[in-house]
Amino acid sequence: MKALFEPAHMGQVDLKNRFFRSATWEAMAQENGHINQAVLDHYEALAKGGAAALITGYAHVLKEEQPNPRMFGAYDDSFISDYRPLTQRVHENDCRIFFQLVYGGSFTWYNTKSREIWGPSAVTNKISDITPKEMTPEDIQTLIKAFGQAARRAMEAGFDGVQLHAGHGYLLNHFLSPFFNRREDVFGGSSEKRARVIFDIFEEIRKTTTSDFPILIKLNCSDFMGDKGFTFADCLALCKKLDAMGIAAVEISGGPVFRPPKTEKESTFAVENGPKESYFSPYARKIAKAIKAPVILVGGNRKMETMENLLNETEISFFSLSRPLLCEPDLINRWRDDKSYRPKCTSCSQCFAPDKNSCIQNRPKAEAV
Ligand SMILES: Cc1cc2nc3c(=O)[nH]c(=O)nc-3n(C[C@H](O)[C@H](O)[C@H](O)COP(=O)(O)O)c2cc1C
Repeated sequence: MKALFEPAHMGQVDLKNRFFRSATWEAMAQENGHINQAVLDHYEALAKGGAAALITGYAHVLKEEQPNPRMFGAYDDSFISDYRPLTQRVHENDCRIFFQLVYGGSFTWYNTKSREIWGPSAVTNKISDITPKEMTPEDIQTLIKAFGQAARRAMEAGFDGVQLHAGHGYLLNHFLSPFFNRREDVFGGSSEKRARVIFDIFEEIRKTTTSDFPILIKLNCSDFMGDKGFTFADCLALCKKLDAMGIAAVEISGGPVFRPPKTEKESTFAVENGPKESYFSPYARKIAKAIKAPVILVGGNRKMETMENLLNETEISFFSLSRPLLCEPDLINRWRDDKSYRPKCTSCSQCFAPDKNSCIQNRPKAEAV
């Protein structure tokens, strides 16, 4: 019988339990992506809160491309010394930290008039109403190099590894999608060719970092757009290929739905008509069975019993959480002390706020209307 609070391994990385904090853009950094005391304090609280590892909010790899305000930056070497105190404070609290890298693409509302937004093809994103510029082969090489350099900076800053964000409608996800990727060159066409940019980024990071520096990836199990989008069959094939290449772990998410949420409260992180918690477990369990690399399940992990059953009945290795840890950074410790503890998070998805992302339950009363 496997337990959630037992030490585990992700390749050569020791983890004290099976919980990750899933990447969460906190909107706490400075406008230029550099960090501050608030970020350090937040990550220290999370590290003390009991998770074995934290995945940072996403960091943009090219200066001119920033999909959201006050997210982390990774676009030049000034960030190396900036992040050292962050990795140090997390490590001092017996916790690992992985740096998430992203290129946003057309899923953005931030400064959209003042910058060039790239996409695999010039297909309008109906959520944001943005039509990106189709990337030239040179743009793609710039992107690949930028991911490689950002990963090197992460290694030099003391992060335990990097995670490529290839889900949730951002650029790498759009490369994977036949709807958004209509290219006829080596980066478009078959499922494998649509994934080529990810393989090239992986190989580039292998060149810019040591051969054992962990590279993780976050993927949609499906875009839930039927055959028009990245399907579960595509995802399974991609995971097998990445496994053979040496991916350290695959975090399985899903969506987003190809439309804005129907109501303000509708969660964009769940599957319509799917399980009400641990939403993507039916997909993640099949992937975990098919690959050797550990699978991290994200989305709606809310009950210890459910995760304990999944741990023992499937090959899923780790569980990651975002919204519940914005609400209660010490939730994992609470679960360690009381298995039946129910998180305060109601998955309302009102965590997104203009000043900084936070749980509505923790905001001053005047704001929480
Ligand atoms: C405020 C907020 C910010 C997020 N930022 C990121 C991010 O930077 N990168 C990412 O991969 N996912 C991000 N997500 C998605 C979460 O990592 C996670 O996949 C999703 O919230 C479902 O998990 P949960 O049910 O535990 O919240 C964010 C979610 C929220 C609520």
